[in-house]
Amino acid sequence: GRKWTEVGSVAPEMKDQVVLIRGRVQTIRPVGKKIAFVVVRERGFTVQCVLTVKPELVSSQMVKYATSLSKESIVDVEGVVTIPEKPITGATQQQVEVQISKLYGVNRAVPTLPINIEDAARSEVEIEQALEKGEQLVRVNQDTRLNFRILDMRTPANQGIFRIQCQVENIFRQFLLSEGFVGIHTPKLIGGSSEGGSAVFRLDYKGQPACLAQSPQLHKQMAICGDFGRVFEVGPVFRAEDSFTHRHLCEFTGLDVEMEIKEHYSEVMDVVDRLFVAMFDSLNEKCKKELEAIGRQYPFEPLKYLRKTLRLTFVEGIQMLKEAGVEVDPLGDLNTESERKLGQLVADKYGTEFYILHKYPQAVRPFYTMPCHDNPSYSNSFDVFIRGEEIISGAQRVHIPEFLEKRAGECGIDVKTISTYIDSFRYGAPPHGGFGVGLERVVMLFCALNNIRKTSLFPRDPQRIAP
Ligand code: 4AD
Repeated sequence: GRKWTEVGSVAPEMKDQVVLIRGRVQTIRPVGKKIAFVVVRERGFTVQCVLTVKPELVSSQMVKYATSLSKESIVDVEGVVTIPEKPITGATQQQVEVQISKLYGVNRAVPTLPINIEDAARSEVEIEQALEKGEQLVRVNQDTRLNFRILDMRTPANQGIFRIQCQVENIFRQFLLSEGFVGIHTPKLIGGSSEGGSAVFRLDYKGQPACLAQSPQLHKQMAICGDFGRVFEVGPVFRAEDSFTHRHLCEFTGLDVEMEIKEHYSEVMDVVDRLFVAMFDSLNEKCKKELEAIGRQYPFEPLKYLRKTLRLTFVEGIQMLKEAGVEVDPLGDLNTESERKLGQLVADKYGTEFYILHKYPQAVRPFYTMPCHDNPSYSNSFDVFIRGEEIISGAQRVHIPEFLEKRAGECGIDVKTISTYIDSFRYGAPPHGGFGVGLERVVMLFCALNNIRKTSLFPRDPQRIAP
């Protein structure tokens, strides 16, 4: 086959070389009948290609044909790389141009598109400026973006977001494998709710009541009972959320960890600490282009985090809030607003936007959470925050079956529906703990995006199950 060059790699070093590229037509601008500028996009990168009538090589029919191509049509372009006098402002590859010798239309897009990709790729500031100048511009709202997600995905920012998401998942796996964890897959069709609460999708399983797993919680713990020692899972999580918020989806990707604890639940927080510092380092180092592309449309400050992740107890946290004039129930949970506020206070005082808050009140944690041995009003549990919003919750678990059964009952769970889970602890179960991370939340908050729908390829929320 012929050698193809990706648009994103066309660079000044290729001057005078002939390149062959395939991409989508972003814009075509004819200048008279003899010249046309074609901006070609591939994977979020764009290059300006110039079609100029030249005897024997490029006919005026060719220019006419080019200008008839609709936006987003797929084209193959062959041409010589040249260096323009001035940087090309309308392309990501600003230092180069391609002088077209051959242009083939591979497949046409319909003439009218529901989303103009250039408009969809503009930042809020650029939109304001364009509107001030009286430019014709359509502000693309979120529903339209999601209805035509495959078009919306083509913007440089979205290309960046989903590559970052892939890298987060990749680091999660690589890091845990390097620390002796085993990747597992637990069932998503289960007999009863795993987290308690009403946010569960019920279904009929061949005549038996069942539901979609709200988390791999029960089965990842059972894998520890099965002597795997340290396990992780990357998989779908289903929550029948009622409320329509910026951070809740009905289906998201869970990154889950479960491990034996030798002495103290801080061993689990140690894994969070090393894993996330490694992850943030890797994103900053390996995903510069992606972060830049996201920042161009949605400007954000890089995440501030420490080499050793800050740990505060819940009591210390509410003390900080109290000193700042925010009263919270010492045995209750933090609401979204107080979490945000605490995030700000922590950032100001400790210079980090990533921290662990641990020893939560027992009453606000799920039934499987281990209470503190010295004060059972509190628990060996933690949440982890980025920029004041929760990305992880975790804990040491109850591994004593009688106590687990009692806790489930107290929390209003029908113990019959989870009897095989509880029984697992009757055959020799080590102390253990773990945590669950929301993949879409990590990407959203690392990039300071304002809505979780931006970091889910095909989001599922209380009002959306298509496309
Ligand atoms: O806090 P959650 O519900 O905890 C559990 O599922 C436990 N089984 C975890 C554990 O191992 N103890 O969910 C864990 C994480 C949250 O911190 C959040 O990042 C994400 O999953 N999450 C959601 N993400 C998107 N949409 C939703 N509706 C989410 N609910 C939780």
